[in-house]
Amino acid sequence: MSQQDKDELINKILELKEALNAVILAHNYQRGDVQDIADFVGDSLGLSQQAAKLDADVIVFCGVDFMAESAAILSPGKIVLMPEKLAECPMAAMITPEDLVKTKQEYPDAAVVAYVNTSAAVKAESDICCTSSNSVQVVNSLDEDVVIFVPDKNLGMYTQRYTDKMIIPWDGYCPTHHQILPGDILLMREDHPEAEVVVHPECQPEVIDVADTVLSTGGMLTHVKKSPNMEFIIGTEVGMLHRLRKDNPDKIFYPASKYAVCPNMKMNDLKSIFVALEENKHVITVPEAMRERAKQALDRMLKAGRGD
Ligand code: 13P
Ligand code: SF4
Repeated sequence: MSQQDKDELINKILELKEALNAVILAHNYQRGDVQDIADFVGDSLGLSQQAAKLDADVIVFCGVDFMAESAAILSPGKIVLMPEKLAECPMAAMITPEDLVKTKQEYPDAAVVAYVNTSAAVKAESDICCTSSNSVQVVNSLDEDVVIFVPDKNLGMYTQRYTDKMIIPWDGYCPTHHQILPGDILLMREDHPEAEVVVHPECQPEVIDVADTVLSTGGMLTHVKKSPNMEFIIGTEVGMLHRLRKDNPDKIFYPASKYAVCPNMKMNDLKSIFVALEENKHVITVPEAMRERAKQALDRMLKAGRGD
């Protein structure tokens, strides 16, 4: 697309947005040009917080399915649109509500903590949600001593490092973060000995072990801004580097692995956002009984706030 066509498309999106009283929310892994036209760019927790308090009629959610669903759960009076219906999170698909119900029967005294990367149906079967920004805080806030943690085993194992409670991690994982290997970090460190290694807790434990700092994507933004360091090796989805570079033009960022790309996060683009606004699609809804139960788990998480 030429720059002129792109500018015209952006203008049309802005016009439609105003006419419909719409806002665009985008996750930190979205394409750079999508982030640049969004009203709010953030991590999973920040986007949920925005969705809960926004004063708009329409939310265009540029992320993946569970994020748009969370917005629909938290903002029942608003129309939530997902530009690309097939932008699904494969990790969220690694657990069904039926699986969870069975596991709850095996551990009747355990609490269920669901990472927000889950379907509304799984959230409805959970006691509380968490994100990568507050998993430790959420787990430690519980009365129960045993916690079924779904679906990310890596976030579950990371959280176990900071709690005396017993965590039973589900066997799910993020295929994108599994592209980052400990050897990648060691090689990058050799090339950039001054750089601080910052990774996401969805990375495997062996990667966490060789990192300097472990943070959610929102936590990375705050940390990097405050840090006296000038170079960073970033172990998460590569879209994160767009925002880090934009906010910190004087600092240098290297991806830990160029293969850490989430194809689902990259599906939304300017064209699909325009079509979503013009044709009012794809509308995300959650059946009311399920929505109410899932909202309880999300509300409990929102009360816990950020942990990083
Ligand atoms: P955060 O932005 O909350 O750190 O989540 C990362 C992620 O993988 C979302 O899909
Ligand atoms: Fe899911 Fe991983 Fe993609 Fe996030 S980066 S949406 S966890 S597959």
